Amino acid sequence: MTQQGIQISLAGKAALITGSARGLGAEIATALARAGAAVMISDILEDQGQRTVAAIQAAGGKAAFVRQDVTSEADWSVAVEATVNAFGGFDILVNNAGIEVCALVENTSLKDFQRILDINVTGVFLGLQAAARAMKPGGIAGRGGAVINLSSVAGLRGFSGLSAYCGSKGAVKLLTKAAAVEFGHLGYGIRVNSIHPGLIPTDMGNAVLKGFVAAGLGKDEASVQQAFERGTPLGMKGVPADIAKAALFLASDQSPWVTGAELVVDGGTTAS
Ligand SMILES: NC(=O)c1ccc[n+]([C@@H]2O[C@H](COP(=O)([O-])OP(=O)(O)OC[C@H]3O[C@@H](n4cnc5c(N)ncnc54)[C@H](O)[C@@H]3O)[C@@H](O)[C@H]2O)c1
Repeated sequence: MTQQGIQISLAGKAALITGSARGLGAEIATALARAGAAVMISDILEDQGQRTVAAIQAAGGKAAFVRQDVTSEADWSVAVEATVNAFGGFDILVNNAGIEVCALVENTSLKDFQRILDINVTGVFLGLQAAARAMKPGGIAGRGGAVINLSSVAGLRGFSGLSAYCGSKGAVKLLTKAAAVEFGHLGYGIRVNSIHPGLIPTDMGNAVLKGFVAAGLGKDEASVQQAFERGTPLGMKGVPADIAKAALFLASDQSPWVTGAELVVDGGTTAS
């Protein structure tokens, strides 16, 4: 892929993208495949995951599917082995799988709070462990790599109705930095960065709009959407491709000195 004179090629690299049956994960996987990476689509949604694989293959990309629940240690072993066996390596991990629940603090059930932390935080932690073990020198892949964690603007500032989600995404931001520092000091050759998207229309993005209304934080979805847009200096909606381009940069050799960074992709919302 050529962007403003910079050649971004992921030829010869193998990527595992969690939660990539749909939404931002599918868009990121498609972009990485277009740049030449072989991509392992991982998700709990098998049919949708297979459809994403078929779409990438139809466009000439290399892709396969593995069923993986990111909260399961056993599933992580299966997913990493499947990636190495299918593609002969494991160079890029995108910890993208995530969920949100929109509710006031006083109405958020303990079960929901713990489920969000399990998927959004424990899932990322297990991914970092799997990447360190497999990508470090001597690991089953063993040639270093890049890990990209999907945090959110909700990992940078507070939002009414999203306390559990904000807590989880704030944790992802600092897990990222701690792992980046540690892997750097240990000489693993593994960079770790986080991406912080603003509101993007996906199943989750649309559910956030509905959730704000249901929690009594907005009159209707259109007014919630307008409230988000009014805080966006660039004055336009983000699309999944905006996030995929950021992931492509962080996954590639064009960012060799970038680690522990938080790449905010939100049209300037959190800057204002
Ligand atoms: N869409 C947005 O506005 C937005 C903004 C900021 C951050 N994000 C983050 O980006 C990531 C992707 O979001 P999206 O909008 O594509 O959401 P989405 O709901 O459309 O897709 C999330 C995917 O994760 C999968 N998933 C959920 N639980 C899983 C589990 N336990 N194991 C494996 N897979 C699981 C789902 O099946 C789904 O395919 C999430 O981490 C989200 O928090 C999204």
